[in-house]
Amino acid sequence: MRRVYLDNNATTPVAPEVYEAMKPYFLDDFGNASSIHWYGQRAKAALELSREQVARLLNARPNEIVFTSGGTESDNAALFGIVEASRSEKKHVITITIEHHAVLHTAKALEKRGVRVTYVPVGASGVVDPGDIEKAISPDTVLISVMHANNELGTLQPLEEIGRIARERDIYFHTDAVQSVGKVPVDVEKLGVDLLSLSAHKLYGPKGVGALYVRRGTLLRSLLYGGHHERDRRPGTENVPGIVGLGKAAELGTEHWESETERVGAMRDRLEEGILQSVPMATVVGDRLRRLPSTTNISFDYIEGEGFVIAMDLRGIACSTGAACSSGSLEPSHVLSAIGRREKARSSIRFSLGRFNTSDDIDYTLQILPPVVEQLRSLSPRYNKSAITV
Ligand SMILES: Cc1ncc(COP(=O)(O)O)c(C=O)c1O
Repeated sequence: MRRVYLDNNATTPVAPEVYEAMKPYFLDDFGNASSIHWYGQRAKAALELSREQVARLLNARPNEIVFTSGGTESDNAALFGIVEASRSEKKHVITITIEHHAVLHTAKALEKRGVRVTYVPVGASGVVDPGDIEKAISPDTVLISVMHANNELGTLQPLEEIGRIARERDIYFHTDAVQSVGKVPVDVEKLGVDLLSLSAHKLYGPKGVGALYVRRGTLLRSLLYGGHHERDRRPGTENVPGIVGLGKAAELGTEHWESETERVGAMRDRLEEGILQSVPMATVVGDRLRRLPSTTNISFDYIEGEGFVIAMDLRGIACSTGAACSSGSLEPSHVLSAIGRREKARSSIRFSLGRFNTSDDIDYTLQILPPVVEQLRSLSPRYNKSAITV
């Protein structure tokens, strides 16, 4: 069967160049990067090259990059790390309602430890108003954490404006840039962030490895206790092959993001327009201008999302109802609920494109999708009732 993968926000395939770069570090260059002998030095040199590659992608300094086990750990390390290192008696954190659970659930855990957290709402567009962040600031605010690109909608948050506000008030600013790194420009200086989370498997690297950018001079308490790895900022023997893969993926991201953005964006627009033209009662969810070029979230009236995803999968097309880590949950997406679409959350589908999609993939999807929607609607009692009423 022909297979089309339109779920790149869940994870991306590993790029062949990344796979090739990683291979030697499983077999010949297997050393522990903390060992002083030849094997160790080979591993250490590979880590430092990766650090440079990741730093270059973000316009950061290599010693500001801390390797982690992925986006979730980076988010936890940033939120806990800043709060725990803060000497303030009362601590207040600001975030937004559509963050990934890696931030939201960490914020909830902080609340249980007595930290006050403000969850600033976003409008129907899925974009926060920087003025609302500013209004939430109080004298005890120690951290603002606002994601760059939302994983379900693709909407991009106004980080530059928020960064300016945070800097003026001398408040640390963290962003979860797991979905944006390698897809749109992510420059820590321009965005004004002090901490930034990224994950290799969202940018054609391997799973289980990521990084936290920590601006020089930031006071951060380590999440884990152990050895002196990563300059005491993240103990544990480094995942050398994974980190090499992340470095290579970052290098490819630095080289290709611009041309890729243009190509992927054109395919996404053609897919979106094609769906809107051929399927009645379909609506794009979230701001169509401020978003990743790779993502569209479309709501199909009278469609039940999981049934749609399964029907598409049976025809070889992989898409999703939202965040991969929330699938199986009975609750409607917290992101769609937060933008006032709780009622329609179950009929929203995310299509996320990537480097390895082709124009033929879009043609195939546009051929398969309209009859699938028609067939599912024909089975919906609500749809048939509405057709009779009309
Ligand atoms: C915005 C965002 N943050 C964090 C994560 C978690 O990253 P990881 O899977 O590397 O733990 C994800 C993964 O879906 C994400 O989309």
